[in-house]
Amino acid sequence: MAKFYITTPIYYVNDAPHIGHAYTTVTADAIARWHRLLGDQVLFLTGTDEHGLKVARAAERQGMDPKSWADKTSKRFLEAWELLSISNDDFIRTTEPRHYATVQRFLQAVYDNGYITKGTWTGLYCVDCEDYYTEAQLVEGNCPVHARPVEVVEEENYFFKLSLFTEQLLDWYDHHPQAVLPSSKANEAISFIRQGLQDISITRTSFKWGVPVPWDNEHVFYVWYDALINYVTAISYGVDQDNFNQWWPAVHHLIGKEILRFHCVWWPAMCMAAGIAPPGHVFVHGWLLVGGEKMAKSKLNQITPAELVEQFGVDAVRYHLLRDTPLGSDGDFSYEAMLSRYNADLANNLGNLLSRVTAVVTSKCGGVGPSPNPDSELASVTDQVLEQALGAWDNFAPYEALDVTWKLIKETNAYLEANEPWRMEPSDSLDKVMGDALEALRIVALLIFPAMPSTSVTLWRRIGLEGSPANARLPESARWGGYPGGLPIQRSEPLFPRIK
Ligand code: ME8
Ligand code: MG
Repeated sequence: MAKFYITTPIYYVNDAPHIGHAYTTVTADAIARWHRLLGDQVLFLTGTDEHGLKVARAAERQGMDPKSWADKTSKRFLEAWELLSISNDDFIRTTEPRHYATVQRFLQAVYDNGYITKGTWTGLYCVDCEDYYTEAQLVEGNCPVHARPVEVVEEENYFFKLSLFTEQLLDWYDHHPQAVLPSSKANEAISFIRQGLQDISITRTSFKWGVPVPWDNEHVFYVWYDALINYVTAISYGVDQDNFNQWWPAVHHLIGKEILRFHCVWWPAMCMAAGIAPPGHVFVHGWLLVGGEKMAKSKLNQITPAELVEQFGVDAVRYHLLRDTPLGSDGDFSYEAMLSRYNADLANNLGNLLSRVTAVVTSKCGGVGPSPNPDSELASVTDQVLEQALGAWDNFAPYEALDVTWKLIKETNAYLEANEPWRMEPSDSLDKVMGDALEALRIVALLIFPAMPSTSVTLWRRIGLEGSPANARLPESARWGGYPGGLPIQRSEPLFPRIK
């Protein structure tokens, strides 16, 4: 059985999640669900990043100790993911003992391999990024991401000899042209590496909220050095080699573009230094913007998943996040756009199709669904859509997968409009038309399952099918002709009532 390992970034618990985090997590979820439909054994990992200055300061502002604050906020991520039907197989928290042990084991290996030394370093630090900048990277003296002042930090600490990996990294990129996608992002990483890499400070003595350095307990690891290692903690690095080898290096990291350098430069180098292969795949997506600006916990422009779910329902929110912007580009979020897509794609196209079909079958076929016509003109549309959807999901392009799926929905509506079954008398030709439409709906239910799992199940049941689309096997189950006919059809309230 093929294995498919997919991860999201682990999110900082400085504040509750907003739809920017939901964007990554829903995308990873849909891709994970698609792979389960293909019959792959999937490991879908998400979690929370709980150490570092940013979280410690957030806790302090609330008058709480960092761990209690992290417990509370991490739970809000879990709740959000439950609300959004996220099917993660594991949820990692960096304050868990399994993670401490792995971080220490991993970095001890890097130390033993001679890639960590002591030194003094002065740098410009942005706490919101938990990242250092050079003068040149600042925008009007401020952090280029958060547009806030940076802090001057000077400390004696341990350094990772990143500079030694310049050639090895370039060589790795040469031999793995598909490892980082879109390729524009690989080029960004490559040009950063070509500018020359500097050693980076990876420990702190100025605060204690981190994983202790095993060879020098005055120090804790810098949060990014602990965080990246979560991806191998979850697959029992250094504990169960067989398990580790099943999932690594064939991982798929899905990340936002602001953390490209960590995932596409530091992390591969850290892996090399520890003696394991770099991550096999990193997919870098763009930002969800609000009025042209990145939605961020450190700004006041957040929209929470719960607000949207309350208005539109879970599946509509998932659909919008997946369908609005091609993964990789930035996309501006607006209620207006969400509302108009909801009404057009969900209420009109999909909802209306199901209503029409169930209404006609109820009134003219005695409520029993006829079987499809093997030579239906919809069969070739379906085959084509299926091929395109397979390719799109495989390429991390949910936008495109849903776009082609809606093509099938639209073609089926057009087929009904051309045949006007609501004007036909009960007959063989009416049965054929309705059987075809039901078969198209069955296939639609399968193809939307990754994006809209509960709508998919509802659709499945309303056309009389038993079990769940989750148990189908793609692509076979989505080929034309699978609808058996003779099933009781349920007519009931609209799937997606229009919203004004
Ligand atoms: O960076 N648009 O955590 P974080 C799209 N803990 N995606 C967004 C987004 C937006 N406006 N805002 C957030 C961290 N995201 C580190 C990661 S990984 C080892 C450690 C998503 O809480 C996107 O995936 O700042 C982004 O990369 C991530 O949340 C950053 O979350
Ligand atoms: Mg961030």
